[in-house]
Amino acid sequence: MRLILALTLAAAPAAAQQTADAVAPEAASGLAPEVSAPVTSENWMVAAANPLAVEAGARVLREGGSAADAMVAVQAVLGLVEPQSSGLGGGAFLVYYDAASGEVTTLDGRETAPLSVTPTLFQKDGEPMGFWDAVVGGLSVGTPGTPALMETAHRRWGTANWGGLFDEAISLAEGGFAVSPRLAMLVAGDMDRLTVAPTTAAYFYPNGEAIAEGATLVNAAYGATLRALASEGAQAFYTGEIAEGIVATVRGAAQPGRLEMRDLANYEVIERPAVCAPYRGAEVCGMGPPSSGALTVGQILGLLQPYDLAALGPDAPEAWRLIGDASRLAFADRGRYMADSDFVPMPTKGLVDPAYLAERAQLLEGDMALEEVAPGTPPWDHAMLLADDQSLELPSTSHISIVDADGNALSMTTTIENGFGSRLMAPGGFLLNNELTDFSFRTHSDGVPIANRVEPGKRPRSSMSPTIVMEDGAPVLVVGSPGGSRIIGYVAKTIISHMDWGMDVQQAVAMPHLVNRFGTYDLEEGTSAETLSEALTAMGYETNVRGLTSGLHVIAIGPDGLSGGADPRREGVAIGE
Ligand code: GLY
Repeated sequence: MRLILALTLAAAPAAAQQTADAVAPEAASGLAPEVSAPVTSENWMVAAANPLAVEAGARVLREGGSAADAMVAVQAVLGLVEPQSSGLGGGAFLVYYDAASGEVTTLDGRETAPLSVTPTLFQKDGEPMGFWDAVVGGLSVGTPGTPALMETAHRRWGTANWGGLFDEAISLAEGGFAVSPRLAMLVAGDMDRLTVAPTTAAYFYPNGEAIAEGATLVNAAYGATLRALASEGAQAFYTGEIAEGIVATVRGAAQPGRLEMRDLANYEVIERPAVCAPYRGAEVCGMGPPSSGALTVGQILGLLQPYDLAALGPDAPEAWRLIGDASRLAFADRGRYMADSDFVPMPTKGLVDPAYLAERAQLLEGDMALEEVAPGTPPWDHAMLLADDQSLELPSTSHISIVDADGNALSMTTTIENGFGSRLMAPGGFLLNNELTDFSFRTHSDGVPIANRVEPGKRPRSSMSPTIVMEDGAPVLVVGSPGGSRIIGYVAKTIISHMDWGMDVQQAVAMPHLVNRFGTYDLEEGTSAETLSEALTAMGYETNVRGLTSGLHVIAIGPDGLSGGADPRREGVAIGE
């Protein structure tokens, strides 16, 4: 078996750096990939989806800034150079380990539904709209949370001067940056949607031609927005000219949305306790509702606790039967129970209750794929009828992992939802999200309400799974990925690869993907994952060979220092010193 995924290690002058350039595949005996060693460092590390953004974060860390400071710099550049995935017009979830207090907490910067929406936002004549009909235009745009999250994180944990954190991004926006191969490819492939709104078309298709790889792209409007943020803080985004530009864009779109100035002015980041689940003696901590990430990753791992994955190893079809069906069981609970718990009562603790998961794990005792998978009944002091969710999430999004010299650790997954979001570009030079399509388009099923239905002010359920694994009260792994609802599988599999199968972080990131959410086993095209198709089919699974473009960025923290991995499927790097 040979693997296509491989990395090369390139040393930057002043820092260890992991690039994502593919090199000739190495022979491998199974799913454990033979890749270059992870980047290592003693003091700090940052890993994210674009080298320019990672360089901006590295500069902040090199000058003694905190992980929160570096995140602001990384996010400001990502919004420029990887505008399809995240930015000021979107939302994010952040998990933070504060070395001084020893606490892990989370910030919820998820978009909110405008106050004037109704639960039938995405219905026409009582029936759900087509997905793409809903995505493109103003209807799908939620109140952005990312600028407020950046400011909240900086106020809470920042040590560097706020304004200076935008210098790199301002200079790249005003002086121009080289269009990356991935951005050029995605722009060329999305012409029909990107040219619906004139401002978006003018930016990505100047003179009618798609921006080309390597071409210099200037975004002066974005530079001006960043200057306002740098000097006035996030209120410059949520009130005044920038906010007016957002509202005018949403309400003036061919398919107008409901966003109003009051939605922006009232937006709040919410600090929530991390949701942690035990696994192999560690605590896997992440983002609770409105994300389904930590609960679903925690359920998958909790269901696998009684099974010896280490003894089975990554090449055993039996290991993938266990992981695949644990994932299906977790997704069944996710579809029934998980949504914004500020609006819908949720059995948050019950879903990761060890006794509940131990009992449900007995369902995995056979040796064939489960014929039927249904939601369980987690312990809950609430009686409520809920129907299964019916929302669709497509791959998109970006992930940032950072550890600073003081030992603070940050895991942040950030998004505008679909690639290029709603396809609406605000006058401030950033794309607006389509996050509201993460809600269920249907409100009820057979008269029973769906937890993740649209409601005013509510946050759509997410799959984003920014995670920090803790051992003995200290962080040992910082991990997360884009990828729609497959994010959950990518993150769980990376934790298993590292903790059960002893892979280093670069191997764990590069390892071929096998993902099961709803029954069909997705096997990563062009990799040794395909070789398991026959065995999985014999166990009763339907398999589907396809591209699985994760964007995992991972940092392991060990007694000898830090090691980082960047996903070869995208353009990311890890840099540390
Ligand atoms: N829109 C991607 C997610 O929140 O999971």
